[in-house]
Amino acid sequence: MPERLPSEVAAALDATAARRRHIGTPAYYVSETTSTNDLASRYAERGAPEGTTIVASAQTAGRGRLGRTWYSPPGAGLYMSIVVRDRRAAPFLTLAGGVAVAEGVRAATGLPLEIKWPNDVVTPGTNGPTRRRKIAGVLAEASSTAEGLQHVILGIGINLSPSAYPPEIADRASSIEAELGRGIDGGTVLAEVLAALAAELTALARGDASGLLARWRRLAPSASGATVECETPAGRSSGIASGIDDDGALLVRIGPRIERIISGEVTWK
Ligand code: BTN
Repeated sequence: MPERLPSEVAAALDATAARRRHIGTPAYYVSETTSTNDLASRYAERGAPEGTTIVASAQTAGRGRLGRTWYSPPGAGLYMSIVVRDRRAAPFLTLAGGVAVAEGVRAATGLPLEIKWPNDVVTPGTNGPTRRRKIAGVLAEASSTAEGLQHVILGIGINLSPSAYPPEIADRASSIEAELGRGIDGGTVLAEVLAALAAELTALARGDASGLLARWRRLAPSASGATVECETPAGRSSGIASGIDDDGALLVRIGPRIERIISGEVTWK
């Protein structure tokens, strides 16, 4: 059962209403749920319009890419899911989510962030790519029937404040407050991410992905020139990341050939 939006969240959403357009309207808040993606999916199945957003303070079964758990302790992060119905936007939602998080966090807090393919939002790699720490992640889950795509749930998790991360991610995770060394307003982060997402979705709905691709490439320097290890049909290979194509696939030069990596695990060396 949705609860009343925390007052700082309601105020930040009001302040960005014009820029958010329909994204974040309506917005529902729950203090705890299994996964906001599951809750948003239930709303979408009952006909919730595009832009409907679920925000939780904690998740008991938050999930990430490749079947991983998304650590979601109470009050330390933003856990949100947005219903998207536009079929032209759907193939680009993972990229759009990453760009919206990087730009929204910067607008709300001043913290510069980068994207690591496909959808990790990380601290800048000033000490080398392996030193980047993950601040946020994006999980797009599509639902289709015989009639085609029904909706995509765009789930976004952002680490706001330091937390006792599980050992397996402790040396790779960080939070906005830990990076800045000061407190931030989570409501403003939420509202600015939704406003940035609205701008991307508006262009995508017109069939224009060029601006999104340009912004993604600018925010993801590690996608070009770094040594990576990836899974290919021939097994695990090492190569040089060579940017993304216009469908968002990572191009990796392995010896004389270029492999297109669509999903799966890529490790930066
Ligand atoms: C990843 O980096 O692997 C993606 C993480 C996505 C986490 C968010 S938190 C809100 C939404 N609900 C979930 O269960 N997952 C996404």
